[in-house]
Amino acid sequence: MITKTIMCPHCKNKVTIQGNPGEKTYIICPKCNTKGVFTFPEEKSELKTTTTSFTIEVDGLTKIYKDVTAVNDLSFNIRTGEIFGLLGPNGAGKTTAIKAILSLIHVNSGKIKINGFDIKKDGIEARKSVGYLPERVAFYDNLTPLQTLNFFCELRGDDKSVAKPLISEVGLEEAIDRKVGTFSKGMVQLLGVAQVMIGNPPVYILDEPMAGLDARWVKTIREKIKMLNEQGATVLFSSHILTEVENLCDRVAIIDKGKLIAEDTVANLNKYLKIKPRLEISIPGLNGKIPEEIKGLKGVEAVDAKDDTLFVTCESSVRSRVIATLEEAGLKIDNIKTIEPSLEEAFVKLISQDKGGA
Ligand SMILES: Nc1ncnc2c1ncn2[C@@H]1O[C@H](COP(=O)(O)OP(=O)(O)O)[C@@H](O)[C@H]1O
Ligand SMILES: [Mg+2]
Repeated sequence: MITKTIMCPHCKNKVTIQGNPGEKTYIICPKCNTKGVFTFPEEKSELKTTTTSFTIEVDGLTKIYKDVTAVNDLSFNIRTGEIFGLLGPNGAGKTTAIKAILSLIHVNSGKIKINGFDIKKDGIEARKSVGYLPERVAFYDNLTPLQTLNFFCELRGDDKSVAKPLISEVGLEEAIDRKVGTFSKGMVQLLGVAQVMIGNPPVYILDEPMAGLDARWVKTIREKIKMLNEQGATVLFSSHILTEVENLCDRVAIIDKGKLIAEDTVANLNKYLKIKPRLEISIPGLNGKIPEEIKGLKGVEAVDAKDDTLFVTCESSVRSRVIATLEEAGLKIDNIKTIEPSLEEAFVKLISQDKGGA
């Protein structure tokens, strides 16, 4: 039942009436007796109010190179304002998927949207909002970072005044007058990050931004990604190393051989992949012999020994029990290193599980 207050067109008297959607009602104005007909409006379907909006939508993406299906019916959505990791071993199809998202390659099938714009129909609009860092960043060796960024500002029609602050922002101010040809890989990568920040895009797509960099640069790049996200940007980045995305991504899609294996939060993926760290314990005089006491310990998945190093794969929660057991057995521990398993290792396990193994 709808309640409406209508105004008599003749004497402007207000009358309140009730009826169902679509119903016609004959009215006589109680004040001036003017007759009229009123039709109650059809009920409009309620506007869907969803709290999740997607910045990047990938639906059924397939890309086949001659004899390789690089991406196979891949679908995932990236929420506005999140950091999304695209994870997979080398050759999994990450770069192909990213190039397809940006419509830099022809695809066999699939629908892709960036900020609601169909990448095929509205490619220019879709890409406008994206800062893209390709897998292999290349700049002119003979230019300084300032000349490089000035050049990109010119290309994009942006104000050159942003170049210098951007170089400072990525921590390259000391190298501002050096030629890019003398830069380390990490410095080139940071210049790449500065370059994609020109124009302050709301979306970043970074293809393996940390690949091949030492820990210091990885940390800097990670902090930069975090900062951009805190300023409101949506970030998609690819990686083949799980630890690179831990503590950084809101959600992750894992792909292998072009197929989506899982899409979830990092915490959930850890559970899903059943990843256990490996302890490398230095014990002088071990001589490749596995101590009996450790073999039957609950929570220990695998033990191996080589020379004076004992390798124990176990859940983090039993780490201290492993160490205590070794000490109780009278062994002297010199050093302990925790090695996080690579995504590849997790994959091997996951895939062997899929095949009914392990
Ligand atoms: N231009 C190409 N021509 C033929 N095969 C390609 C081409 N680019 C990539 N591939 C193949 O597609 C698969 C996925 O590659 P890629 O997307 O680069 O993976 P990732 O970025 O995850 O390492 C690999 O098997 C690779 O050899
Ligand atoms: Mg790649």
